[in-house]
Amino acid sequence: MATNSKPQFCLFSSLLLILLPILSFGSHCTVTGHGFSIEEASVHDIQLAFKQNQLASRQLIEFYLKQIHRLNPIIKGVIEVNPEALHLADKADSERNLKAPGSLSGLHGIPILLEDNIATKDKLNTTAGSFALLGSVVPNDAGVVTKLRKAGAIIIGKAS
Ligand SMILES: *[C@@H]1O[C@H](CO)[C@@H](O)[C@H](O)[C@H]1NC(C)=O
Repeated sequence: MATNSKPQFCLFSSLLLILLPILSFGSHCTVTGHGFSIEEASVHDIQLAFKQNQLASRQLIEFYLKQIHRLNPIIKGVIEVNPEALHLADKADSERNLKAPGSLSGLHGIPILLEDNIATKDKLNTTAGSFALLGSVVPNDAGVVTKLRKAGAIIIGKAS
């Protein structure tokens, strides 16, 4: 009984997961010496910190990768991390240095975790939780992913 399990069709029933606040729970680390704390920061605060050179996307992504590494054995929320995340962070940082302040879109350089049934055409697997789909190649980014990338977000990984 083949059900239509192509990941892109699951998009409509799926929620965009922003698990990062959960991952920052329990950490007392402040990333910069200027009193900026990632745990407390909204996207707006982060953008401000980027603008004022208190924070770089690379630092932010490294922080979250470390948190995932540290907490995921307990939380088990993250299925895989994007092997290109640090590269994308560096790219965002150099774009920020080149472009006029205010010309970057709202999520520029901000890490986002997606639920695993949202199709991404990158190195990440899209499985909707099924081993049968591991290694399957999706034809395109899901619509929401296209929008997120356009807004400058960095897909840091897939969550269950
Ligand atoms: C995707 O799944 C394959 C097969 O299990 C695995 O080798 C690969 O590392 C996965 N990709 C990522 C980014 O984890």
